[in-house]
Amino acid sequence: MKKTLLITGGAGFIGSHVVRLFVNQYPDYHIVNLDALTYAGNLENLKDIEDASNYTFIKADIREASVINQIFEEYRFDGVIHLAAESHVDRSLKDPNVFIETNVLGTANLLNAARELWKDDKEGKRFYHVSTDEVYGSLGDTGFFLETTPYDPQSPYSASKAASDHLVRAYGNSYKLPFVITNCSNNYGPNQFPEKLIPLFINNIRNMVPLPVYGDGKYTRDWLYVVDHARAIDLVFHEGKDGETYNIGGFNEWQNIELIKLLCRQMDEKLGREPGESEKLISYVKDRPGHDRRYAIDATKINKELGWKPSVTFEEGLSQSIDWYLQNEEWLQNVTSGDYKKYYQGQYE
Ligand code: NAD
Ligand code: TYD
Repeated sequence: MKKTLLITGGAGFIGSHVVRLFVNQYPDYHIVNLDALTYAGNLENLKDIEDASNYTFIKADIREASVINQIFEEYRFDGVIHLAAESHVDRSLKDPNVFIETNVLGTANLLNAARELWKDDKEGKRFYHVSTDEVYGSLGDTGFFLETTPYDPQSPYSASKAASDHLVRAYGNSYKLPFVITNCSNNYGPNQFPEKLIPLFINNIRNMVPLPVYGDGKYTRDWLYVVDHARAIDLVFHEGKDGETYNIGGFNEWQNIELIKLLCRQMDEKLGREPGESEKLISYVKDRPGHDRRYAIDATKINKELGWKPSVTFEEGLSQSIDWYLQNEEWLQNVTSGDYKKYYQGQYE
């Protein structure tokens, strides 16, 4: 069936994998990727599909309501998959306002445009909001986040995502806007900006730079390979029920320090270093303020209702990711030149 879909944030980490999957899998769909190309957006992530006949890129900012309304008017989208966001907790601690502007007001602008466009005919329309498990707050040693877990966001980033989730549900309730929301755990894989733990540490290990482990290193995250997240988004977009929320997770919890040691072992082997050499780079640093102790997703609902489960083990996914960063040295160099150095100094030195 022919459809025109808007994917926002498609030049970012997860968005680029979603755009690639949809462009390749659905030749009948016209995929419009809208992205402001902030520091985190990079069209090099999409080099392989940029000339596809069913793909269009638009550089635009979701904070600009009138521009967004014009684009909806012109393309008359049948569906929206909304990923554009400010996404890094540490940056949100330093500059919360841009998180509120993009994640809350930007989402509201998209919701208003969709509401207006679909006001007379909602048949087959869908607003898919991509969110995070961080909206549920922090867990103790036991327990999991369920779709029914009360929201308790702890950082400006997670609070802005929580606000956007509430807005999406409120538009569903108040204006019958057809929507789905997914809340996913930490992603890793190719094309992730090296401010997040795994690509930052891969880059530092490669360059023999100290590995800044926050606090006692015993914080726990549930890691999912980005391609498996993109597969879940495809499934929920096509088969998820209107008005529902699905949690997506890797069934894959790691304490940071254990993950970092695995990363060091895999990289020693790939770089031909003596076993234990990269681990010597581990350096405990001042903790992140208000650091969430543990995230863990119960992904039973999406597994039982839609048959989704991760396709790769963590060891395989991590090994493939390291290979990608080592083989794409130019990509890493491009994204770590210029402003990255300033960011790194401000955050770590
Ligand atoms: P990212 O930071 O890599 O990419 C974000 C993209 O959004 C970039 O291409 C950027 O240019 C674009 N963008 C930012 N502000 C914009 C604006 N005002 N207008 C238009 N485009 C703008 O983020 P990511 O890690 O790919 O995350 C994508 C989505 O998934 C986010 O909504 C995030 O909250 C969510 N999420 C991320 C993770 C994770 O582990 N990375 C986990 C769960 C959910
Ligand atoms: P991050 O990749 O920033 O994701 P999030 O905070 O959204 O879960 O961080 C993952 C974990 O790694 C988190 O517990 C913070 C920790 N961390 C460090 O110890 N050092 C670092 O330099 C970074 C970026 C993260």
